[in-house]
Amino acid sequence: MGTAIRIDEDRLWNSLMELARIGATPAGGVNRQALTELDGQARALFSAWCREAGCVLRTDPIGNLIARRPGRNDSQPAIMMGSHLDSQPTGGKFDGAYGVMAGLEVLRALHAAGIETERPIEVVAWTNEEGARFAPSMMGSQVYAGLMGLDEALAVRDTEGVSVAEALARIGAQGMADSGSRPAAYFEAHIEQGPLLEAERKTIGVVSGGQGQCWFQMTLTGRASHAGTTPMDMRSDALVGAAAIIGALDRIGRAHPPGCATAGRILVSPNSPNVIPDSVYLTAEIRHPDDAVRAAMELEFRAAADEAVKLNHLDLNLAKVLEQPAAPFDPACIAAIRQAAERNGYPSMEIISGAAHDAVALSRIVPTGMVFVPCAGGVSHNELESAESGDLAAGCQVLAEAVLAYARVSDPVTPSR
Ligand code: GLV
Ligand code: MN
Ligand code: MN
Repeated sequence: MGTAIRIDEDRLWNSLMELARIGATPAGGVNRQALTELDGQARALFSAWCREAGCVLRTDPIGNLIARRPGRNDSQPAIMMGSHLDSQPTGGKFDGAYGVMAGLEVLRALHAAGIETERPIEVVAWTNEEGARFAPSMMGSQVYAGLMGLDEALAVRDTEGVSVAEALARIGAQGMADSGSRPAAYFEAHIEQGPLLEAERKTIGVVSGGQGQCWFQMTLTGRASHAGTTPMDMRSDALVGAAAIIGALDRIGRAHPPGCATAGRILVSPNSPNVIPDSVYLTAEIRHPDDAVRAAMELEFRAAADEAVKLNHLDLNLAKVLEQPAAPFDPACIAAIRQAAERNGYPSMEIISGAAHDAVALSRIVPTGMVFVPCAGGVSHNELESAESGDLAAGCQVLAEAVLAYARVSDPVTPSR
């Protein structure tokens, strides 16, 4: 396949561990939420490393940070890699960080070997993939792919009332309109975040696509009153309504395997032990690989919410903040990943991604592929998330070879050039 590339396992691992110090939690995880000061520090470290590897950095208006390694034919569309540097509040060291560091390791390996590619290569740290501080998830990649409006994204506020625009300005992460053309292909490496690869003893997951998902935000409004004097049949308790919806979501998820339904965030007001809650903010999300089944799950959820509202004499304000259909990845990108795994003798299997990824947004506009590697016990979105250095290196090697197949290697650069 032309010039060989070998990635450096220790360099990849050491960079992951150094990055994980930014926002490190006592329990061994990472809290580096989108567009915080810590996210800014991670961006600065990534930028410095990319410059050392011969790249030029740019930032777009939603703060996506793009490192570019020029190609011999620099006017050609780039081959792009990426993932995210932001984490969940109780996140791990690898979710997102691995994909960005794996992309960086590919750049470093190319730089160290003096390999020039025909096409430019870009590595992107996408803004706010997690959606933990600012909903929805995949914000930067969705704006990049034209799936979410820039102004709509900039106006989203966190629970403290800080907008995305303000947070970007605070850490100096907002850039200019991106004049770069669309990439020719996008590749992302990620830990699986589920138990399948480990259970099947496979090193590489060749991702065939991402399951669809939808996110909701709702406010249930009842009437606050005294917990000791208000008879049970005269209440309008927003928390009791929310509890019914949470229970229904769990039942709906269980009834539609392999689908999932989750209520992840709840804010109760006035949040006092002896006051009947008059307001509850609740989030819900529903996922399934089959969009028709997911639509049926959504209808069941809406019916359960209406029922809870009626029974408890509440008002409901329900907004859908994300609708992401299932995303099949590109057959040729999938084949490039499978072939790279086979060439290296890594055991592999095809897998559908249960988690959201920036690759899902990119797959709407460019040929896209993803490489998964196992994580211990399938545990992720948890400070205990862990992965083996050898598996991470194998995934990075596969990423490198798939990217190189697309970036088209030309002769190695000689020292005199
Ligand atoms: C992000 O990690 C998600 O799957 O929501
Ligand atoms: Mn992730
Ligand atoms: Mn995540």
